[in-house]
Amino acid sequence: MALDADRIRMDFPILESTMHGKRLVYLDNAATTQKPRQVIEKISDYYKTYNANIHRGMYEISIRATEEYVRSKELTANFINADSYRNIVYTRNTTESLNVLAMSLGEEVNKGDTILISTMEHHSNIVPWQMLAKRKGAVLEYARVADDRSSMDMSDVESKLGKKPRIVSITMASNVLGTVNDAKRITKLAHDNGALVILDGAQSVPHMKTNVKDLDCDFLAFSSHKMLGPAGIGVLYGKDELLEEMNPVLGGGDMIRSVDFQSSTWNELPWKFEAGTSNIEGGIGFGAAIEYLGDIGMENVKRHEDELTGYALKRFSEIPGMKVHGLKADRINDRIGVVSFSIEGAHPHDIAQIFDSEGIAIRAGHHCAMPLVNSVLNEDSVARMSFYVYNNKEDVDKVVSAIDRVKTVLRIKSKN
Ligand SMILES: Cc1ncc(COP(=O)(O)O)c(C=O)c1O
Repeated sequence: MALDADRIRMDFPILESTMHGKRLVYLDNAATTQKPRQVIEKISDYYKTYNANIHRGMYEISIRATEEYVRSKELTANFINADSYRNIVYTRNTTESLNVLAMSLGEEVNKGDTILISTMEHHSNIVPWQMLAKRKGAVLEYARVADDRSSMDMSDVESKLGKKPRIVSITMASNVLGTVNDAKRITKLAHDNGALVILDGAQSVPHMKTNVKDLDCDFLAFSSHKMLGPAGIGVLYGKDELLEEMNPVLGGGDMIRSVDFQSSTWNELPWKFEAGTSNIEGGIGFGAAIEYLGDIGMENVKRHEDELTGYALKRFSEIPGMKVHGLKADRINDRIGVVSFSIEGAHPHDIAQIFDSEGIAIRAGHHCAMPLVNSVLNEDSVARMSFYVYNNKEDVDKVVSAIDRVKTVLRIKSKN
């Protein structure tokens, strides 16, 4: 059954609001998504009726809060086809998940070891590895983006895997280009070369069906706030035996089994990695977001975004002076609904500002991917719009009209 964006919109109170007196057209979903009533009410219900700390209480509302928090992890595990909630560590966001991995796995990295990432990465999958490389004297290698400036250069990936990196950490989908990488193939090749594989799912898990067993990745990181859930909750999925072997990076309450004056032993998974009081409302709210997406069906989410992206790319191809970065409409299956663009004669920040005055929220800048934007696309910044389940073709039409407005305000003459 196809997704009914107009019905879905009714679940999102914020979409009834206006910006500068115009209907809000929210197209900054790659940065964060809006939240449906079901998530907002789930959080509010927790505070109104069973607010208590988890794990510790021997009383009814604490037991209920604990059950709801664990249930959220069970829903998350099921959503990505993980074995159990034991494999689901809650962090603050994708960034924290990747940092935890860099710190914990980093203990086993030695001077001269190689870590392989790519030039397509978000800063959160670059900086933690730079920090680790500096700390340990390791070498950070980048697989390059191909000459189409859109897809991963797989021959470069293969050749750099030949140097036997200890860790390979790659994005499943680019937050600038929208490119979906062949994560399953990269994982297989990396494993064949003896590397541990981390996938950054921040832009893929919210937009398509994810199956960690089929991918066979060792770790996967993603964020609740990019998939209808609250901010402050991220996921670190890991294979059981690897999480068991790893040391926690934060110590304190809840992550221990026993403590004496000199040493401690660790709690069972996943609690060993969650020191101190958790983001309880975040976890519980995230569970509601997962249920909401599950009801829509991830195949429907992908199909809907493909349709909108195809429509946007077609409309944009008819606009003189407009340049779209990333794969074109003939490769719609290999991309998500992130469309970055430049307009000849217009600075991206001016575009975003004029869009704002038209009620349209998009983002402009380097999108926390400076190596990609500056060195691969040769731009200082680009404008980016990104879709989710509540967007429709009318939103794209509004963008096309706003581009006309940009050209008028900035007095850009069209060269046909
Ligand atoms: C590909 C990618 N990785 C990681 C992140 C970081 O996510 P967060 O800010 O939720 O940690 C983002 C955020 O935009 C992203 O797009």
